Amino acid sequence: MTKWAKIFRKCNNYYKMPQTNRNIWDIHYTRPRASQLYPDENVVRILKKEFSMKNSCLRALDLGAGSGRHLPLLSEHFAHTHACDFSANSLKHYAGEYPSALQAALPELPYADASFDFILCWGVLHYLPKASIPSAAMEIRRCLKPGGQVFLTLRSDNDTHLQHQLAAGDLKDGHARLFSKAEALALFDTFAQTRYGYITRQPVSEEYLVAHHMLLCQK
Ligand SMILES: C[S@@+](CC[C@H](N)C(=O)[O-])C[C@H]1O[C@@H](n2cnc3c(N)ncnc32)[C@H](O)[C@@H]1O
Repeated sequence: MTKWAKIFRKCNNYYKMPQTNRNIWDIHYTRPRASQLYPDENVVRILKKEFSMKNSCLRALDLGAGSGRHLPLLSEHFAHTHACDFSANSLKHYAGEYPSALQAALPELPYADASFDFILCWGVLHYLPKASIPSAAMEIRRCLKPGGQVFLTLRSDNDTHLQHQLAAGDLKDGHARLFSKAEALALFDTFAQTRYGYITRQPVSEEYLVAHHMLLCQK
């Protein structure tokens, strides 16, 4: 069976996948600049702090893996690293290199309850339709083992960069939503513990601000 047949055979929610933004991400992953080689430094730091010893049982999921920039890092910390994304081109050009990669769309995930010790959901949730985001948060919780953690970002309402991207940039005609800190925290209030951080940067020569809430939530 070819690699592609394996990816699509495993994907049991392909035909009912939400379409919001999917075409836009598929186009994005045909551009050479979509390739990102290096992990976000916040992910590097959290994994070093929380999962410093590689353990032969631990399982991680890169949810919305994109160009797969976090997969080598996750594999350094976890014995089993899985990847999924709803973009066929993310899988075709990048994350599909990982044998366990599959196409899946939040707010539904094709994994059993309590499958993972760690889920990374970096830069993904704010692209979902507003009504789906609480279900996505519950779905992430369902897929975590008791005591498992999700590390995620949600775009902050202080961000001025994303609207520009949606109006005229790489994500033209896409949908996204910005969150206040209180809204971001409320989405994950069913978790036993949530730790909060904030990232902001102004790219050189740009007037726009990139701002994300960063949450580390334990089931
Ligand atoms: C900004 S990129 C982030 C990629 C990667 N996490 C990273 O940090 O480089 C957002 C990713 O989320 C994926 N995505 C958006 N909505 C999704 C959904 N409903 N289900 C699964 N993946 C989704 C997109 O295809 C894209 O790869």
